[in-house]
Amino acid sequence: MKTILLSSDDEDIKKAAQIIGNGGIVAIPTETVYGLAADALNGNAVRKIFEAKGRPMDNPLIVHISDIPQIYPLVSEFPEKAKILAEKFWPGPLTIILPKSEVIPDEVSAGLDTVAIRFPSHKTTQKLISLSSPLAAPSANLSGSPSPTTLSHVCDDMDGRIDAIIDGGDCAVGVESTVVTLAEDIPRLLRPGGITVEQLRSAIGEVEIDSAVTNPLEEGEKAASPGMKYKHYSPNADVILLDGENNAVYEYLNTLTDKNAAAICYDEDIGRISIPCISIGSENDYSEQAHLLFASLRDADKMGYKTVYARCPRKNGVGLAVYNRIIRAAGFNIIYLEGADKG
Ligand code: TXA
Ligand code: MG
Repeated sequence: MKTILLSSDDEDIKKAAQIIGNGGIVAIPTETVYGLAADALNGNAVRKIFEAKGRPMDNPLIVHISDIPQIYPLVSEFPEKAKILAEKFWPGPLTIILPKSEVIPDEVSAGLDTVAIRFPSHKTTQKLISLSSPLAAPSANLSGSPSPTTLSHVCDDMDGRIDAIIDGGDCAVGVESTVVTLAEDIPRLLRPGGITVEQLRSAIGEVEIDSAVTNPLEEGEKAASPGMKYKHYSPNADVILLDGENNAVYEYLNTLTDKNAAAICYDEDIGRISIPCISIGSENDYSEQAHLLFASLRDADKMGYKTVYARCPRKNGVGLAVYNRIIRAAGFNIIYLEGADKG
């Protein structure tokens, strides 16, 4: 299939809307990561997304809207707490799970009785939705790979597999949206992202954190969010997390003899580590780390490294989102050093 490259100007957004209207699939920019979109109400079109990504059919998709009232036909309930979150954080990197209405095709909800809804803040995608329909869209990477945060990442994974790609520049946040379910009595965080659990709690009170956010699923345990059961975000290189204080990490890395190893580290570490370093920003700037994380994993592969040692992020604020992604990229492989934070 020939994949056409579209810009974010009005003419090209109209072309994208036509492709969506004809049941095609288009990669779209959002503020979090690029998505791979189809008309959310067209089950056959949605099926093509799963084929292009190689995504298991039991992993449901997020439905993207461009205005809060568009949510009403899509859900069977819109409870007060969901309304508060929508008013406060939309448009933005927050996905809310609610009981679904009968218009949601099974392909979107993967047979669950809930649907995930998000109102992204990227203007190009808002325009596209308002010209076409609510869009079902997972991240626009091949299933299992790091999510794409630049146009070139999308081209690397999707050229020849989809109808079109819209260039919307680099993604600002860099990790996927926060996912919270309000389909149960107590709101629960299923995936951390740019809107922090601290922000959610200050808006609506109690929010639990699903154990799969920081822990591997137990044998036989059912994933609240099916995406959490798959190995995820992985480059070809093996990723190993190093949890420990600075000097312990430096000592560990500086005694390695592996010529094919690199480190994903912070700006402050540069010059103190003797193996090649890919920095994801300053140690205390969690947003910058989120912004650069997926690109750093893809860069490690491009540079040919076989093993990547990554510093262990803090688990507060947006740091929890960085931790959640990198621990999956590492398949929960952590080396605990002096000063490790095992909490
Ligand atoms: O930022 C984002 O959320 C990006 C952009 C494109 O919007 N999208 C994205 O989609 O990350 P995806 O498919 O890569 O991740 C969606 C996650 C998956 O872990 C999926 O299992 C979960 O949300 N999910 C979707 N619908 C769900 C539902 N009804 N119940 C529980 N989890 C759900
Ligand atoms: Mg994804």
